[in-house]
Amino acid sequence: MSFGSMPLGNGFRHNDDKSEEFCYLMETAVCSECSTFQLVDQPSPNQMFHGEYAFFSGTSERMKQHFLEFYNQVKKEISQTDPFVIEIGCNDGILIKHFAKNGIQHLGIDPSANVVKRAKENGINTIESFFSTKTANHILEKYRKSDVILAANVICHIPTINDIALGISHLLSKNGIFVFEEPYLGDVLEKITYDQIYDEHTFLFSVHSISEIFKRAGLEIFRVEHQWTHGGSMRYWLSHKGSRSIEESVGYFLNKEDQLAMNKIETYKTFKKSCENHKYKFLDLLQNIRKEGKRIVGYGATSKSTTILNYCGIGNDLIEFIADTTPIKHGKVTPGTAIPIRPHKEFSMDYPDYAILFAYNHATEIMNKEEDFIKSGGKWITYVPEVQIL
Ligand code: TMP
Repeated sequence: MSFGSMPLGNGFRHNDDKSEEFCYLMETAVCSECSTFQLVDQPSPNQMFHGEYAFFSGTSERMKQHFLEFYNQVKKEISQTDPFVIEIGCNDGILIKHFAKNGIQHLGIDPSANVVKRAKENGINTIESFFSTKTANHILEKYRKSDVILAANVICHIPTINDIALGISHLLSKNGIFVFEEPYLGDVLEKITYDQIYDEHTFLFSVHSISEIFKRAGLEIFRVEHQWTHGGSMRYWLSHKGSRSIEESVGYFLNKEDQLAMNKIETYKTFKKSCENHKYKFLDLLQNIRKEGKRIVGYGATSKSTTILNYCGIGNDLIEFIADTTPIKHGKVTPGTAIPIRPHKEFSMDYPDYAILFAYNHATEIMNKEEDFIKSGGKWITYVPEVQIL
């Protein structure tokens, strides 16, 4: 399936940047062996993750709470007296900082210099690196085997997935656990959230695909848990084969995926049609509002919205600006569509008639914070699970 020419999801540019914008052809396919939904082609990792990486995990209060709960749950599973915890792609330390604060030996790994700097400022022992079997060997030389390896919204970013699986298996202690969570393919297909498809998401996983991929490295899933984050995610719990008993949740989701026919090509043909319908409905709604002379502003300049804006062909003629809390995005424009991004305070300075909730995964938090917008007569527009004015 092709979504056409696409810039980088996090490729926010300075508004006076006149250089040619990097774009690639965004096409997806499903592997016939491991049933993993994936990008056919992908920009190089150095293009996507660098010293000006625009995403900081700690921007949402609800996400901070989510990661605190994640920490508490993992901690309950640790039986070792002196555990060693590693997080792959620790970003600004939103999860691993809880282990650090509680005096647990830990190590964060992240390839983006600016977020590593923030993690170190947060008191986290961090190295600036991509994760690979080579990194695993380096950690083994300098430290020891790890009892808990964690990752959140990271593994789906790494094209060398088989090498990652081997590295994790090598680094994980005999009774250790590897726990990670990622946007879930089942939700993408059910809610038509095709905005989960962008350059950084090499893969969109299912329980079937994770099981197949990690089996090759001697690891198996013993528990899965559905999460509300990122519009629907799955947390996967893995261990060395045979070291834990497999819980009911695994069979439950494997069955559910079979019922959703997630390994059948027809499912993806229907998905393609649904994406096209979604595009025309969304564009139609915004064009009609603008014809009435009303103002539309976006809320949350997410990487996901790069796919929506470019695939639907929505630009500055329809959306005046996008309000966002992330300082690094202010004064920049959206990738490919050049919509200005402004501090979220400007949203309440002059409320628009309509606001598109691009950060729909933070809907509760944002709508509570911006309740005066509704009082001013404004209306929210969402496009998940369907295009509608709320
Ligand atoms: P995410 O969907 O990848 O988590 O990105 C959320 C974006 O939305 C990020 O750029 C920060 C922004 N945001 C706000 O502007 N206000 C908010 O209250 C929240 C939670 C996020």
